[in-house]
Amino acid sequence: MTIPTITLNDQHTIPQFGLGVFLMPPPETRQLVRTALELGYRHIDTAAIYGNEEGVGRAITESGIPREELFVTTKLWNNRQTDAPAALHESLDKLGLDHVDLYLIHWPTPRYDTYVGAWQSLEQLQAEGLTRSIGVSNFHQEHLARVIAEGSVVPAVNQIEVHPTLPQFELVRFSNDLGIAVEAWSPLGRSADLDAAEVVQIATALARTPAQVILRWHIQRGLIVFPKASSRERLAENIDIFDFELDDAAMLALNGMASGRRVGPDPERFNRH
Ligand SMILES: NC(=O)c1ccc[n+]([C@@H]2O[C@H](COP(=O)([O-])OP(=O)(O)OC[C@H]3O[C@@H](n4cnc5c(N)ncnc54)[C@H](OP(=O)(O)O)[C@@H]3O)[C@@H](O)[C@H]2O)c1
Repeated sequence: MTIPTITLNDQHTIPQFGLGVFLMPPPETRQLVRTALELGYRHIDTAAIYGNEEGVGRAITESGIPREELFVTTKLWNNRQTDAPAALHESLDKLGLDHVDLYLIHWPTPRYDTYVGAWQSLEQLQAEGLTRSIGVSNFHQEHLARVIAEGSVVPAVNQIEVHPTLPQFELVRFSNDLGIAVEAWSPLGRSADLDAAEVVQIATALARTPAQVILRWHIQRGLIVFPKASSRERLAENIDIFDFELDDAAMLALNGMASGRRVGPDPERFNRH
């Protein structure tokens, strides 16, 4: 099984599929990440606020997989936007790494208006080699336009909520037109989209599972995904999506599920520190 890669605007490559560890309890993270690595996962998406960077780091060390074969993302939490260098050093210490592959501003938190300064700090951290690539998360058009206008590096990625009921066609197009790759968080709608009639019908016809059908929809849209799962069976199911394709009719049916339903906060209003 070969996981496709995407070349980012800074010429680094990112595996298009990986594991997300949001809401993974710290004591279980080490074992679940180890299991994922055994199953062939090579891309892990964590964040300082998830509280489980140590578990990710221990699993990486114990796996014995060469560092250059892994892609590790972590994120700058909102109350550290004026303090990004120290925050990244803390994350690296917890991960046991000397660099991450991707460092993201987690949310724009517009009320504080500190994300442009944070972006300039990330540019410096990238220049110092502490992160290979830099990007943003939960950024809308206006936030992207500001960091591009006031910074000197175009974000490599924008990580946003995307799933069939929130397909984000406009923001994906806007980001891609700027050369920014899109990562889809909560790709399964935190499992809420799995029971939808359209999904179940396509899965039944293809003898695949609803999760596999939704993940294929993301992959065929060119999005980067890292579903979270808590058992070996689900981890194995989710990565087993590279030997089939959805046809145009199936893609259109899933595209038609848009309802605007979010499972997470609206970035315009999310200002938690
Ligand atoms: N940047 C941001 O602001 C942001 C926000 C949210 C998430 N994220 C990232 O995106 C990653 C994924 O998003 P997410 O964790 O919110 O949601 P998700 O991946 O869409 O869904 C995870 C849920 O789906 C269930 N699930 C996974 N595989 C399944 C399968 N094959 N069949 C049935 N159910 C399945 C999981 O259950 P079990 O765990 O019980 O197996 C879990 O409840 C996160 O882990 C995180 O890395 C980023």
